[in-house]
Amino acid sequence: MAKPPTKSSAPGSPPTANAMWGGRFASGPAAVMAAINTSLDVDKRLAAEDVEGSLAHAEMLGAQGIVPQADVTSIIDGLKKIQNELAAGSFPFRPEMEDIHMNVEARLAELIGDAAGRLHTARSRNDQVATDFRLWVRRQIDAIDRGLQELQRALIDKAEAEAATIMPGFTHLQTAQPVTFGHHLLAYVEMLGRDRSRFKDARQRLNESPLGAAALAGTSFPIDRHRTAMALEFTAPMANSLDAVADRDFAIEFLAAASICAMHMSRFAEEIVLWCSAQFQFIRLSDAFTTGSSIMPQKRNPDAAELSRAKIGRILGAFTGLLTVMKGLPLTYSKDMQEDKASTFDAAD
Ligand code: ARG
Repeated sequence: MAKPPTKSSAPGSPPTANAMWGGRFASGPAAVMAAINTSLDVDKRLAAEDVEGSLAHAEMLGAQGIVPQADVTSIIDGLKKIQNELAAGSFPFRPEMEDIHMNVEARLAELIGDAAGRLHTARSRNDQVATDFRLWVRRQIDAIDRGLQELQRALIDKAEAEAATIMPGFTHLQTAQPVTFGHHLLAYVEMLGRDRSRFKDARQRLNESPLGAAALAGTSFPIDRHRTAMALEFTAPMANSLDAVADRDFAIEFLAAASICAMHMSRFAEEIVLWCSAQFQFIRLSDAFTTGSSIMPQKRNPDAAELSRAKIGRILGAFTGLLTVMKGLPLTYSKDMQEDKASTFDAAD
């Protein structure tokens, strides 16, 4: 751990071994191996969660007497400096350090010296990444819930204003019976309510702590898993250490809930596209959400609605993609699982 971060090799010389795990390796990975192996560009988005998880873990190591309090104090000081660097955008990310976990650890070593190596006592990147990713998905779910609630509020306001506005109700896209525009909009409020409850349900199930599972089989250090779970606002430690590092259900459930939600948005967007067409003329979109054509001046294209309608493709793609990555993996962690983040991040965005 005390070794400096890997420098890129001079031309012609063999590549240097990874400073974190390459102690027994004579040379480093081939360039193409390093390129497929690195995940920093993607998982740097877990930086804040990575530091939070480490703060909880370090505090527990101190409280349990596993690491001397003086080292824990300097680890915590260093991690707080890293938090500030991340917030200020001045954290020196180093692509050659493979992933965000090793970037944070290497930076800590630069800031506080040898004591940094003690942070990884009784921990592996396997329980670390599972913890970070759960914290990240949990935060997303909370933000999405606030967004969906705002959208419901906007729809309810509009429905109240349009409570007496008569419109045709459709089946088979054939005019069926008269309804009100308010009634129609409130149908979406119901759908979004079910979406919110699906996300909430996923949140509840994901909210257990993998920390302490270490690589897969736990650790012989006298750790306190309840303490780290509580510090990170998880309801409990996960019951089975193999499951703790092998499970990605929480991301898959998040993507399933997101896919259904995106399907609702897509139906709403489709209706907006229909309603503002010359054939329907039910609504007129404001200029702020419309684009024009340079050669057909009559056109007011509902691009915002069309793009919203299209997002389901990427979100559902993320869902089926991650399910496919996971379906053939033996227990416990396989590097395949590093492919869990890019599409989950994209779907959340
Ligand atoms: N970057 C890795 C990931 O996201 C971290 C875990 C690495 N674990 C390992 N055993 N190589 O999956």
